[in-house]
Amino acid sequence: MSSTGNEAKVTVIGGGHVGLPTAVVLAHFGHEVVLAESDPVRLKMLLRGESPIVEAGVEELLGDALRLGTLRIAHSAAEAVRNAEFVFLCVPTPQGIDGSADLTFVEAVAEEIKTTLRPGAIIVNKSTVPVGTAALVERVTQRAGATVVSNPEFLREGSAVADSLHPERIVVGADDPADAQKVGQLFAMTGAPVIVTDTTTAEAIKYASNAYLATKLSFVNALADLCETVGANVDDLMAGLGHDKRIGFEFLHPGPGWGGSCLPKDTSALLHRAELVGHDFALLRGAIAQNEDHMERVVQKVARLSGGTLDGASIGVWGLTFKAGTDDRRASPATEITRRLVQAGARVSAYDPTVPRGTGDSDLAGITIVPTAYEACRGARVMALLTEWGEFASLDFTKVAALMATPIVVDARNVLDPTTIRSLGFIYEGIGRK
Ligand code: UGA
Repeated sequence: MSSTGNEAKVTVIGGGHVGLPTAVVLAHFGHEVVLAESDPVRLKMLLRGESPIVEAGVEELLGDALRLGTLRIAHSAAEAVRNAEFVFLCVPTPQGIDGSADLTFVEAVAEEIKTTLRPGAIIVNKSTVPVGTAALVERVTQRAGATVVSNPEFLREGSAVADSLHPERIVVGADDPADAQKVGQLFAMTGAPVIVTDTTTAEAIKYASNAYLATKLSFVNALADLCETVGANVDDLMAGLGHDKRIGFEFLHPGPGWGGSCLPKDTSALLHRAELVGHDFALLRGAIAQNEDHMERVVQKVARLSGGTLDGASIGVWGLTFKAGTDDRRASPATEITRRLVQAGARVSAYDPTVPRGTGDSDLAGITIVPTAYEACRGARVMALLTEWGEFASLDFTKVAALMATPIVVDARNVLDPTTIRSLGFIYEGIGRK
């Protein structure tokens, strides 16, 4: 931490995947931060200096900030905003029944803080919200003399702290560019370019980013499927594409489908929004449909390799989270594929380093959770590697083969070396690999 002379009084509302990294990094930059968290379990952990989410580097920064007094944890949002010059809204915007973004939490917080906001406070909307939400929050809070700006987040789970410390850009949308500049100044230490625009455009940038990333992945996965049909090798194909700087290597890795708490929800909300205004966003609809089909292809691949049927088959699963480096299983392709295997009659033993044995979580109903990667192999007809946890690539595959009923692996993350695995007697199939 160092002083820039621009230290501000900041309140962050919501201590989840966005709010907590944002709060600890703003405190690290030297700002005076209050973090409000309403959930009693999360609150208790935060007060003890423990992170309620699995996120690299968060707990260290949380401990430092609490020790230095740059961060205070509060229960009540209304109380936490009293002295704040900037109030960051980092509350969930889950997917509503019709695919739109549910703004219940955003509206509730705006109501809660409207009477205690300090006049002239700037409300910074970091939650992913549909175009027009800044205006909605402003309507609720305008009597307090507060202004609302939009500052979308581009943090990835698992690297949210690194992404906050070294962002590629800061986007701030405001009616008055001077307010946008003030928010941009909070992140001056990052040296990132600040894109100042209106609130509507800032909100649209967030959805456009996630929709682009999702579409890129659907394109990659569709190419991988095509590779299987025409006998091409996706690894070489992606190398051939990625070296073109206009395409690049990032987000070019085929997998079981894209998931998580953001890409599925945001693509669906953008599509819903487009439909509302009569815009036929066929490209995005296609990307979403491709992702659905792609997950089903993985299920069918496991079924084919397990002798044509899943009914009564013992299948082992490695990985349940939506990607490695997080304990998040929201809209996880790994969990979804595993559920479909169970629905088709398979007896599934699954291992994930973040999922404890005996969990009663409803998304895991019917799945036997085992404590080690090797346990998942016992008696299995097929192993499906669904999340790219590093430990799976370094397993002893001679031991794996000895534990399985038949040595067959579906590597839906393309992380194993096909030549090595096949030399040990395995039938190996990746995604689009020869
Ligand atoms: C995503 C965006 O990457 C962030 O920029 C954004 O801020 C965030 O959503 C958000 O809106 O909050 P995240 O949900 O953490 O971040 O996940 P990603 O790392 O983007 O991965 C999304 C999915 O794509 C995962 O299922 C992942 O396994 C898959 N993926 C990603 C691939 O299959 N291949 C790749 O090459 C990259």
